[in-house]
Amino acid sequence: MFKRKVMANKTVGILTAGGDCPGLNAAIRGIGKTAMSQFDMQVVGFYDGFRGLMENRYIRMDSNFLSGILTLGGTILGTSRDKPNKMQIGSKVMDMTEVIVENYYKHHLDCLVCLGGGGTLKNASHLMNQGLNVITLPKTIDNDIAGTDVTFGFDTALGIAVEAIDRLHSTASSHHRIIVVEIMGHNTGWLTLGSGIAGGADVILIPEIPYDIEVVAESILQRNRAGKHFSIIAVAEGAMSKESAQKIQVLKSRKEKAQLDNETELAQKLSTELKAFKAQAVGTTIELAANLEKLTLVESRVTILGYLQRGGIPSAADRLLATRLGSACSNYIKEGKYGIMVAAKGEGVEPVPINEIVGKRKMVPIDHPWILTAKSVGTSLGDKI
Ligand code: F6P
Repeated sequence: MFKRKVMANKTVGILTAGGDCPGLNAAIRGIGKTAMSQFDMQVVGFYDGFRGLMENRYIRMDSNFLSGILTLGGTILGTSRDKPNKMQIGSKVMDMTEVIVENYYKHHLDCLVCLGGGGTLKNASHLMNQGLNVITLPKTIDNDIAGTDVTFGFDTALGIAVEAIDRLHSTASSHHRIIVVEIMGHNTGWLTLGSGIAGGADVILIPEIPYDIEVVAESILQRNRAGKHFSIIAVAEGAMSKESAQKIQVLKSRKEKAQLDNETELAQKLSTELKAFKAQAVGTTIELAANLEKLTLVESRVTILGYLQRGGIPSAADRLLATRLGSACSNYIKEGKYGIMVAAKGEGVEPVPINEIVGKRKMVPIDHPWILTAKSVGTSLGDKI
């Protein structure tokens, strides 16, 4: 089918998929420089995630390509959230797995390295099931990938969010206001919790702990009574009220019962209802601020940090982490160790089997040391007075 590759050395494919984050280029550089300089490997970069691999849009990397990218934000390869088996092609969603597998072999790849988050792990596992050699590296500002101590992108986003909270403190205290700052993290609260603690937020609301708005209001009033006439509320974009969380739980239970009773139509209806309700239950920061103003009679304002947290040059910690993981990745390729995520473990790295972590998300445990720290310094987490 394809002629045997004549080069004795290995060929590595690299793509970046999912949301971008600072540190991706540092990781690409770590993989590429180690592969080329240590093991004389060929390195091929594919543009825009799995779509570029499907469309065979690529670049053969050399040392010039990798020069000067360590400090660049974003990804020089571009990214997308496209999935190999569900790709928008014109007006249709098609399974393009076969084309991707064909291009993998056309390039005589010995391994495809996918830099991505939870979604990328699923896509990597899917390609492993087609017999491809795949390695992933854990990237996301959310820091919610199971099996690794930390993901690159998180430290930089943490610094951006903390700097924002610092700046919001001065204007909130000058105007005696509530300022609600929305921080990224659609499913987990690591970034909000970490930056809320580091920035000294008075209230921290995360998806893992549905909040009671009365409790939040009371914590603001308690501060006012103590002479602190301003409050900073750090809220994750995925945080929701107790009421919303309860409604979601009811819908989930009803859907699961319908599935167990093989009531397919009802299960589908409930699944659609659940998805719609979840979508409107989060990202309610503006409404939250307005309701807190009503409850406390303290003027409120909102700042949504959004994509600022994904942009800019990577922090030193993220550059160090991404380079470490990238270099370790090429060592694993040299050893022929595939089907793994290169996880950060303490000062070192560990090869974690992709199929052990795919589909899992690292939520914030409600007894996590950071949670206990926040409570110890008097931060309200919106759950009880
Ligand atoms: O996964 C990282 C992340 O930034 C989340 O925090 C955020 O909810 C999501 O990506 C935004 O996705 P997109 O870049 O597709 O809008």
